[in-house]
Amino acid sequence: MNQILPVESYTSTDYFALEQTHIFTQSWTFAGLTEDLSASGDYLTVQAGLANIVVLKNEDGALVAYHNRCRHRGMQLVDGKGSGVKRLTCPYHDWSYGIDGTLKSLPKQKQEFRQIDKSCYSLQKAAVGTWRGMIWVNPNIDAEPVQQWFSPMNQHIAPYNVDDLVEATSDRENFIIHANWKLVVENYIDHYHLAQLHSGTLNMYAHNKASFGFAERHFHFWEPLTDEYRDNLSQFSPLPLLMSQEDEKLGAYVPMLFPAIGLVESESTWTVFNVIPEAPDRTRVETRTKVKNCSTIRYVSQAAKSYSFWQQRTRQKDRKLDKSHPLGSADFMQEDIYVCESIQKAMRSPYFSTGPTAEYGESPIRQFRQQIHQIIKERQ
Ligand code: FES
Ligand SMILES: [Fe+2]
Repeated sequence: MNQILPVESYTSTDYFALEQTHIFTQSWTFAGLTEDLSASGDYLTVQAGLANIVVLKNEDGALVAYHNRCRHRGMQLVDGKGSGVKRLTCPYHDWSYGIDGTLKSLPKQKQEFRQIDKSCYSLQKAAVGTWRGMIWVNPNIDAEPVQQWFSPMNQHIAPYNVDDLVEATSDRENFIIHANWKLVVENYIDHYHLAQLHSGTLNMYAHNKASFGFAERHFHFWEPLTDEYRDNLSQFSPLPLLMSQEDEKLGAYVPMLFPAIGLVESESTWTVFNVIPEAPDRTRVETRTKVKNCSTIRYVSQAAKSYSFWQQRTRQKDRKLDKSHPLGSADFMQEDIYVCESIQKAMRSPYFSTGPTAEYGESPIRQFRQQIHQIIKERQ
């Protein structure tokens, strides 16, 4: 692929395993929103590359994280989410750990483990932190602190506080995309396709005025609203606004945090777009969205005011197709999934090859591939 990444890096299980080991197990992983762990004893588990991590809120209200693995024979301790825990007890032989990670008790200690020094078998700590209303974990306890890791992005995010927003829980979405995770990321950071593939769906933004680039490993992107949309924003916005109409930097901030956590911080919604690789040709995308904290009446009236604008504005990419086809769906996510899956399928052909990439609009893709190539090459 343009001499940077070979086709096999999108299709082979060997390359996928290298990425899991050297990228996803070494990076900060999105674990949830800060409100997911609101009380002492709340916990959640998350897969961070090859390591499963449990994050808890302790009695002091601080977040702590451990490798979710019993020190006896390696069983995973807990699954999913929960609340009110005081102990983490392994279901296999009931070794039991405190919230501080220390081994508190084990069955038949006197007969079976006469010599054991329990203080040697505390849970292994992982790194945890918060940034922009999100909980992050890193399997490596010595990782650079998360606030520092994201600090280059602080000047490239929307001018509002995510903690002030509320989650629209009914908007949680979960997509399985039959494509390699890098195709999903590359599509996300591809400026060149916006005006074409999404001509009928993302046409309220002025793509020709976008500014984007990399801040350390992270990709930042901003684009303003079209003049027509901005000038009528209080009427046309489908939801109550998060930014002021007068704000000079009013627009959509759409970063891709390394390696694969997208944010969509727009004038009316905030979304985390978590890209989770499951196999060389399968990727899960989980989204969670937050909106302004205001009354239902305001939502209903804003939706009613803007209804006719969106009826006219949203168009199918291909009018000959019906709604069941992604290009007839008038849904930008369906349009994106369609192209990612189409390229992945094409890569199976021994005749597959690609042409040149756009000098400006696809420059982020080349830079992203370079980063991946560099990391894998260095650690192989
Ligand atoms: S593996 Fe956990 S108690 Fe045995
Ligand atoms: Fe897209």
